[in-house]
Amino acid sequence: MTDTLARSPLDGSSPLPTIIQGGMGVAVSNWCLARAVASYGQLGVISGTGIDTVLVRRLQDGDPGGHLRRAIAHFPFTDVGKEALRRYFVPEGLPSSQPYARLPLPKVQGSALQRGITMLGNFCEVFLAKEGHEGPVGINLLTKIQLPNLASLYGAMLAGVDYVFMGAGIPREIPAVLDRFANHESASIKADVVGGRRDAPVTFDFDPAEFDGARLGPLHRPAFVPIVSSHSLASMLLKKARSPIAGFVVEAPVAGGHNAPPRGGGSLDERGQPVYGERDEVDLSVMRELGVPFWLAGGMGAPDKVREALSEGATGVQVGTAFAYCDESGLAPDFKRTVIDQALAGETDVLTDPRASPTGYPFKIVSLPGSNAEEEQYLQRQRVCDLGYLREVYETPSGTLGLRCASEPIDAYLAKGGELADTVGRKCLCNALMANIGLPQVQKGGDVERPLLTSGDDLEVIRRLLPAGRDSYTAREVVDYLLGAEG
Ligand SMILES: Cc1cc2nc3c(=O)[nH]c(=O)nc-3n(C[C@H](O)[C@H](O)[C@H](O)COP(=O)(O)O)c2cc1C
Repeated sequence: MTDTLARSPLDGSSPLPTIIQGGMGVAVSNWCLARAVASYGQLGVISGTGIDTVLVRRLQDGDPGGHLRRAIAHFPFTDVGKEALRRYFVPEGLPSSQPYARLPLPKVQGSALQRGITMLGNFCEVFLAKEGHEGPVGINLLTKIQLPNLASLYGAMLAGVDYVFMGAGIPREIPAVLDRFANHESASIKADVVGGRRDAPVTFDFDPAEFDGARLGPLHRPAFVPIVSSHSLASMLLKKARSPIAGFVVEAPVAGGHNAPPRGGGSLDERGQPVYGERDEVDLSVMRELGVPFWLAGGMGAPDKVREALSEGATGVQVGTAFAYCDESGLAPDFKRTVIDQALAGETDVLTDPRASPTGYPFKIVSLPGSNAEEEQYLQRQRVCDLGYLREVYETPSGTLGLRCASEPIDAYLAKGGELADTVGRKCLCNALMANIGLPQVQKGGDVERPLLTSGDDLEVIRRLLPAGRDSYTAREVVDYLLGAEG
């Protein structure tokens, strides 16, 4: 671990990457994918979103290959590792008909178990992604999923993470958090509270002293790269940050996953997708003037796009969709296979759904048969909120704090003061995204949670990538293709 802690990606000792393999939750960009990309000298990024649940489910599947147990053995806070194994490791693996034991639902004030498992999950993913090579590894977190973010960042830093990428919100406080965690100092972020009327802000706090972190000596402070969809947000972040921002990923609305909503609300097209216009275009001359590196994301999965980005002054590109379907990604093999076959037949379809995500951000959905993309399939699902990552903090009329999600059972949401209109069309991303990676929960009555795949608009990239006569491809082939000479 020591040598990774000493190296900084932006101190001139290693060149900046041309290709960033985009962070893809939940565990689509897992440690296998990030390690493969990083070991070819480009930037591999793991997703820290929901990784605590991924950890406990992989342990209940018997930890095939022993990778997690190897990582846990390197985790500096040994009691946390022991407790995770005691509670969740099932040596022979659970039968697939048996429900996974769940972590307790996250609480506003947190709990020692919540903090410990979140730290450990992020540590293991970064540790395994960095194992056996010298290439850089980043972590991707969503600003909006505030509750676990501090424990996630500290856990990733314990494993020597080189870069932190955060979008889906305004991560203004994070650079200073990274400075503090490098010295094992406590950090807080201000919680977004719906309907909050308190004078004093509500904060989420994390103190490494709880684990006696300082005895480990200073940690490497990772480079911080916010993901933005507008030049004005990039300028604002750079101006207001009290500590270094290393650069920006500039993401266009064709990118996979969540997208920023169109500026000014905008209208919907005939399929109900948000329409983006000129106001949503990023002015690259402003990005160049900021004087920090930037990478373009969204529809950049082709060598001519990479060259174009470089000629516009970008340091490189961030690519997600092309990597999501390569051999090393965490997507369950069956779903990968179906989408690759669809791409070969020229039959892929991606819809930008403005309602599906309880975050309120548009979310891109692949038309995968048998998945929650099919409305009638989804409507048969009994609403349940047993993972709770996307719940928002709200203040009750009596001044107490609660957590609610527009995809939870409707009665419960209304009882918490939520509006009926906000529940319409909402889907449970937490459970579906676990199903995407082959870790679906078996709910009451034996119902198995179904997947809901996301990808960028350019799923055709799969066909362009596939070598002649083959029906699968590796992360290395993606990197070689993107950096290749032919356009
Ligand atoms: C399956 C999938 C999941 C994604 N999940 C996340 C995520 O959790 N956080 C994030 O910041 N971006 C996420 N993204 C966006 C990627 O990091 C990347 O910016 C984007 O895919 C680039 O555009 P492209 O899809 O056209 O290559 C996701 C993309 C895909 C395809």
